[in-house]
Amino acid sequence: MSLLDRYALECSSHSPAQTHRLGTRFGEVLPCGVVVALTGNLGSGKTHLSRGIGDGWGAEQELRSPTFTLVQEHRRSKDRVRLYHVDLYRVEKASDLASLGLDEIIEDEQAVVLVEWADRAPNLFPPNTIYIKIHIISDTKRQILFSAPNEQMWQILLSFRKNVFGV
Ligand SMILES: Nc1ncnc2c1ncn2[C@@H]1O[C@H](COP(=O)(O)OP(=O)(O)O)[C@@H](O)[C@H]1O
Ligand SMILES: [Mg+2]
Repeated sequence: MSLLDRYALECSSHSPAQTHRLGTRFGEVLPCGVVVALTGNLGSGKTHLSRGIGDGWGAEQELRSPTFTLVQEHRRSKDRVRLYHVDLYRVEKASDLASLGLDEIIEDEQAVVLVEWADRAPNLFPPNTIYIKIHIISDTKRQILFSAPNEQMWQILLSFRKNVFGV
């Protein structure tokens, strides 16, 4: 078992609604200063999960897959924390990335940053990142793998597990 396995949590989802709900449970325990790196093929459910995360976190506007904007900023009413929803699908070269100003966003400790297609920028992610990988198992079944690179991020996943399973 690798170190990563020690800090991993596997969930399965049998419907888009269930994926949304898992996202909501995760968004509810997501503190500021954390980056979420989301990967999975086209149609795996990244947007469904993200929308749930936004709901759980308390975003005033629904999270959408932005077509032209690569970064969308969300707010919630209860505090001044921002959620940045980033979609790297269209990012092809390192220079595209540089022009997005992502470094600054990611260093913002008063924000939550959710990055779809995170594998397009593997070097972007700091230690305060939680990784989520979605695998398509069948038409309606998805495996959703949450992992943490260290003990601190793992504590957040433990809160998430408690929020979902009660233990
Ligand atoms: N368990 C599931 N979780 C999420 N999406 C599912 C699931 N089963 C089927 N789907 C379908 O897969 C697609 C996922 O779309 P979307 O969330 O936009 O994916 P992505 O953003 O990864 O491209 C939708 O058409 C949805 O109805
Ligand atoms: Mg999408």
